[in-house]
Order: sequence, then C-alpha cells, then structure tokens
Amino acid sequence: MTKKIQSFEFNLKTKTKFGVDIAINLGKYLKGLSLKKIGIIIDGEISKEQYVKEIIKEIENEKFEEVIIWNYDLNEEPDYDSLNKSKLRFLSEEGKTLVDCFVGIGGGSVIDFAKGLATLATNPGPAINYRGFPKNLNPPLPTIALPTTAGTASEVTYNAVFEDKKTKKKMGINTMYNFPVLAVIDPKLTLSCPKSVTLSSGGDALVHTLESYVAVQSNMYTKIFAKEAFKLLFNNLSKVFEEPDDIEIRSNLSFGSYLAGISLMNSGSGPAGALSYLIGPHFNVPHGLAGSVFLPHVVKHNVDGGYNYSELYDLIDNVDKTINKKEKSKLFSQKLFELWEKIGVPNSLTVFGINKGNVDILLKEVEKFEVAFAQNPITFSVDDGKKLLLKMVKK
Ligand SMILES: [Fe+2]
Repeated sequence: MTKKIQSFEFNLKTKTKFGVDIAINLGKYLKGLSLKKIGIIIDGEISKEQYVKEIIKEIENEKFEEVIIWNYDLNEEPDYDSLNKSKLRFLSEEGKTLVDCFVGIGGGSVIDFAKGLATLATNPGPAINYRGFPKNLNPPLPTIALPTTAGTASEVTYNAVFEDKKTKKKMGINTMYNFPVLAVIDPKLTLSCPKSVTLSSGGDALVHTLESYVAVQSNMYTKIFAKEAFKLLFNNLSKVFEEPDDIEIRSNLSFGSYLAGISLMNSGSGPAGALSYLIGPHFNVPHGLAGSVFLPHVVKHNVDGGYNYSELYDLIDNVDKTINKKEKSKLFSQKLFELWEKIGVPNSLTVFGINKGNVDILLKEVEKFEVAFAQNPITFSVDDGKKLLLKMVKK
C-alpha cells in the first residue's frame, strides 16, 4: 500500500487576486504593498483600451512618488538587447533605479519583460550575462503581473523567456526570484485579445495542462490543478471564438490558464512544449502556437503506447462515458484533433515556412530537448522527435 503514497513538493509563491473588474484597484493594491515608485510595462495595443486608461488614471490618483510608463511595442518575442535598451528608461543618469517595482500589463512577453527589468534593476551589466539559470543574483525588484491573455501563466511562474537573436535560442532569465509578488487576474483585460492571440495562448495553456498532467514528475497535487485546468480550457476554447465578448467564457479560460501554469511549475513539461522552443525562434512562430501544433500528435503517440487518458476524457462536455477506458483514451486523442481543426490550429509545419528543404536546421537540434522528452510517460526519443518533424512537413 505504501508504494501508492507519493512524496512531493509544491510551490505557489504568488499572491493572487482574481475577478472581473478588480484591475481597476491596481493602484490601491500597489499602495497596500507599500510601493512608492512604480514602473509600468504595458502592451502598446492594450494601452489604448478604455478600461486600461481608467486603471492608469486610478494609479495616478493614488499620488505615488513616481510613475514611469513604458509602452511595449515589440512585434517579436522579447530579446536580451531590447531589455538593455528599455532598462535605461527606468534609470537615472547615474545609473540608479528610479522605481521600486515593475508592473507588467500584457501577455506573457510583457510580464516576462517586467521580470527581466526587475532583475536588471539590481544586477549590473547587460541582460545576456544572466541568460539561462543565473546563480548568485541580487534579489530583483518585486514584479506585479496583470495578464491580458489567457495562456502563458507568466503571472504565477518563475520563467522569463528571452531570445538571443544571434544564436536564435530562447534561454530566458529564469530564477526563483522571478515569481511575481502579486498576480491581478481580471478576465475583463482579455476581452480585447485578438483571435490569433486567443488561439496561440489558449493552445499554450492546453499544452501546459496536458503535458504537466502526464509528466513523470507529476503528482497527486499537480493533477488536481491539471484536471481542473483541462476541464475549463478544453470546454471553453472553441466557445470563445463564437462568443469572444462573453466574460464567463473568458473567465473560464483565464482561470484554466492560471491553474495550468501552477501545475506546470510543479510538475514538468514535455515534447510539445520543448519542440515549440525549436521552431519558434527559427521560424518566428509564437510560442503557444508552436507548441500546440505538436500536442495532438504527442497525445496520439502516448495513446498508441498505452497511456490512459480516460480520466481527462470524462471531463469533456457531452461525451459518452459508458465506453471502456481504452476506447476513451483513443477517442480522447481524436477529440483533441477535432478541437484543433475547429479552432484553426495548423496540422502541418508548412504554414510556418518549414518544409523538406529547410527542416534540417531543426533536425540537427532535436537532441537538445532530450531532457524534456524524458518527462513524457511513454518513451519519446530524439528519433521520435525527428520523425514527428518530418511527418509534419510532408502534408
Ligand atoms: Fe508555454
């Protein structure tokens, strides 16, 4: 019996406030944290929204000693050089920090950017010095995250993804200090999220859920989060494209994405998440979409290898629950392919400009992801990764 009792560790370091219309209180929340000089990184498009203008106005009404706002207008995913340039905006001529916190209002890239600037505010030199998993850092300034997409869950994770443009590698600046001190999750902020971003971020969240659910490092605690996240995400992802202004659907996706992030942080990723870091930088594919394209194929690989997805199948709305577990797992894989087709996730890499002629660039690098592949419960070898890439450029 004792064999079934798991040992595990679980971390959730970010205080969370969740609710429709709560972001309007951001200024009060910052006051509550005794912060006096506020640095705000905000997605340039989002900054034009009426609701966001009201949030900023409320912050100004709180009469902080300093409020510096920087509009994030990068079209690409963030890189180390952009961090170096924008940190100057928050420094005095003597190189001293002008703020005592960074607030990120935007998608995962913007929140990651806030985390990066928070590290650079207390650690000298260029951002590239801190790539990967830096050690012996000075504690960064606190970050506060307001996600405007439902996907990356950067608001509750310690990762901050940055690309090195020269090497085309996404190494990030990942430190345990990166956990935001506060996440303000207001689904109203996701209402303006365009269709393509809703798709990419929603797919990202489902990758987090499914890969962390099956990961060999998962445990009974992470599975609670992954299952609830799956239920919310799978059953609302197609609905959001039919009714993008429905705040209840948007709330379900925001909450699902948040839970998926917590599960991922405390469990592990897998082949689809890993392969996104391969095709993303080389072919400029958004991270969420880059992982999504592989997800049903990895699930099918697992089903064919005998993995039991029946527990998740039972969480899908309006399915026949009387069939046996094996049939459920098989149908689960099909249901995922069907959802992807319905919402428009490509089932081929050719739409990203990846074809037989250039896929070699990717094939050469697959082995770098062996550690993430090892998280998959059914053996997923480097060869399996290469075969999947080749299969997806044939169509
Ligand atoms: Fe992701």
